[in-house]
Amino acid sequence: MQSILPSILGVIGNTPLVQLDRLVKHFEVDGSLLVKLEYMNPGFSKKDRAALGVIEEAEKAGLLKPGQTVVELTSGNMGTGLAIVCGIKGYPFVAVMSKGNSIERAQMMAALGAEVILVDQAIGSIPGQVSGADLERVDEAAQHITQLRHAFRADQFHRRGNWLSHYHGTGPEIWAQTEGKIDYFVDFLGSGGTFAGVTKALKERKPSIQCYAVEPEGAAAVAGLPITDINHPIQGGGYAYADLDFLSDVPIDGFLQVSGDAAKEMARALAKYEGIFGGFSGGANVAAAIQLLKRNPGNTVVTGICDSGLKYLSTDLWKI
Ligand SMILES: Cc1ncc(COP(=O)(O)O)c(C=O)c1O
Repeated sequence: MQSILPSILGVIGNTPLVQLDRLVKHFEVDGSLLVKLEYMNPGFSKKDRAALGVIEEAEKAGLLKPGQTVVELTSGNMGTGLAIVCGIKGYPFVAVMSKGNSIERAQMMAALGAEVILVDQAIGSIPGQVSGADLERVDEAAQHITQLRHAFRADQFHRRGNWLSHYHGTGPEIWAQTEGKIDYFVDFLGSGGTFAGVTKALKERKPSIQCYAVEPEGAAAVAGLPITDINHPIQGGGYAYADLDFLSDVPIDGFLQVSGDAAKEMARALAKYEGIFGGFSGGANVAAAIQLLKRNPGNTVVTGICDSGLKYLSTDLWKI
């Protein structure tokens, strides 16, 4: 039993790792599939780690002054993490989000004390499907507000505190929880912070671990495939950015693609067979892990359930 924690920040990280034997049996694959339950973080997503990492790195480097406003472009999860971290540490926080992301996220950030600014989607974009073009509009708005308020831009796509949080946290946790018995790590790319940090941490300990990047079908830019469809429902990533900063010095052993429908079906299967209520990207990760086990039976694959299914009650993911 843990002793009393000085604040909710102490609850970030150290998430459980769960074996999905029922799902493995259902899909008739051979091997071990393990998932980190990142929705057990206080903001119900893995981005609490990145939020704490970016803010503490900026404090250390003297980039963030006491009481200074923090601004961030978010699909909701980084913003929720920052709302929690900034709230506890006394920084006003402005979250800038596309109207294409689910409304639950905006509601949660506002409840945690954030000022939430919603940006219209680009012409032709579909609600619930945030594209790179949508994100560019959100980025422009975030840049404008940052200048106007002399704020600190959390900049999750570039600040090293993001990937460092996974290098010092998620990666070593996976290593300790599996006692080094891991053959593959797979992860759906957003900023690439999780993939970069975990891959570096695992390969330092055992270079033979294979790390696979997951992207949406039709938007696999990092894999170098033709971009045929940037609209997909896997919120939190898959922005079809070919050059993600954090991946520039990280070995990628392979690429996997998952369709929006496959991600949804797997999120539903996770709930039904394993009692794990995650979001779209958790579904994408597990669908990719099953692909890998089909090709490489008998191995141990680790991936993450990036956030909670509760964040998508307003979408078609859980329609009854
Ligand atoms: C639900 C969800 N899945 C996946 C990701 C991608 O994680 P990363 O930015 O570490 O690549 C994010 C990032 O915001 C997310 O919110």
